[in-house]
Amino acid sequence: MPVPRFPADFVWGVSTSAFQIEGGTSEGGRGRSVWDTFTATPGRVARGENADVATDHYHRYPEDVALMSELGVDAYRFSLAWPRIQPEGRGPANPEGIAFYDRLLDALCEAGIEPVATLHHWDTPQALEDDGGWLSRDTAERFADYAAIAGERFADRVKMWIPLNEPMVTSIFGYGIGEYAPGKALLLDAIPTAHHQLLAHGRAVAALRSAGARTVGTANNHSPVRGDDPEPVEFLDALINRLFADPVLLGSYPEVLHDRLPDGFADDLPSIAAPLDFYGVNYYEPMAVRAPRSPGPLPFELSPLEGFPMTTNGSPVVPDGLRELLVLLHERYPDLPPLHITENGCSFDGIHDTERIEFLDAHLGAVHEAMTTGVDVRGYFVWSLLDNFEWSKGYAPRFGLVHVDYDTLARTPKDSFAWYRGVIERSG
Ligand code: NOJ
Repeated sequence: MPVPRFPADFVWGVSTSAFQIEGGTSEGGRGRSVWDTFTATPGRVARGENADVATDHYHRYPEDVALMSELGVDAYRFSLAWPRIQPEGRGPANPEGIAFYDRLLDALCEAGIEPVATLHHWDTPQALEDDGGWLSRDTAERFADYAAIAGERFADRVKMWIPLNEPMVTSIFGYGIGEYAPGKALLLDAIPTAHHQLLAHGRAVAALRSAGARTVGTANNHSPVRGDDPEPVEFLDALINRLFADPVLLGSYPEVLHDRLPDGFADDLPSIAAPLDFYGVNYYEPMAVRAPRSPGPLPFELSPLEGFPMTTNGSPVVPDGLRELLVLLHERYPDLPPLHITENGCSFDGIHDTERIEFLDAHLGAVHEAMTTGVDVRGYFVWSLLDNFEWSKGYAPRFGLVHVDYDTLARTPKDSFAWYRGVIERSG
């Protein structure tokens, strides 16, 4: 299917994150992050893999910028590693960390690619985790200091800012069920980490703006929730969607979660709800849910979403879920800022990745359909430029438009790379 026409100023991009691609984890004065600890803990990551080398982007970034030039993207979304900037999560900036991102930003600007910087893509400094991590309110204040440093150093070149990537995943997967770092399984007692991350978001928005940042937004992942039983559907929707969007976009929390939040949470809502210039949506799949079949600590149970093709990562391919989600956000939030799809992509093997082309094509069609019904979407970022370290699943799931040979670190553009270049070219 030919990709429909998007507006001429639509932003075409690709996304990555520091821990998943950089490697060089012991270089340049970088401190340890919770993910270094997690990957070094036996049994946490598939095949015991770690990200010490990852794709070696720390050294090979010039080659990766050249690949992006060849691809023709307008913008590149990446993350700064907090432990490169502040090795212990507090205190003065580490000059070598600053120098690395200076080099990367300069290379991007020289190539005419707009930098889109995320400040936290899950690699919290371990020293802060030792003091309570996101369970502690103080981490939000430390994050504001880090955002101020990043803003002061980089606001002259960074075009768009995203304080936190997918805080839901940190709260639910990191502190709720322990599948991701820091590996705690607190179930609903993890909810205070959501509030502290939201507070960190609000504080960082203010710090970035004071440092001269012009375009500040967020990147939340959302899944439309499906199921026949209204109660578990509403609860899961509150937990994974509304908990992270309502405070930012409405200045309130879903009522069903109020008694799980830290005391005095309402006082923080005005700073959490500071106006944004864009709202970033990461979309992968819808979720299905039902009432628990046996009594347990949670008022829902996930159920498989059947009848769809699957990626190698076990995600159902449901392009219409993206249209549904965009329309839902548009209807739910009257003051919704312009949207960017800050991540969308899939894991499939091989260089001749027809399934990825079909996936992206169908999802772009869904974005376009939402736009024709009045949803204001301004850009689309493919996850990901490169195959990379897929967290607790290690290197097996391959999300890149560019294949990485993990023995030689050679990069080979896949068929989807040429296809995406064509999409960008045709849209002018
Ligand atoms: C969202 C996350 O932001 C990213 O780090 C991850 O690799 C992709 N989902 C794919 O699972």
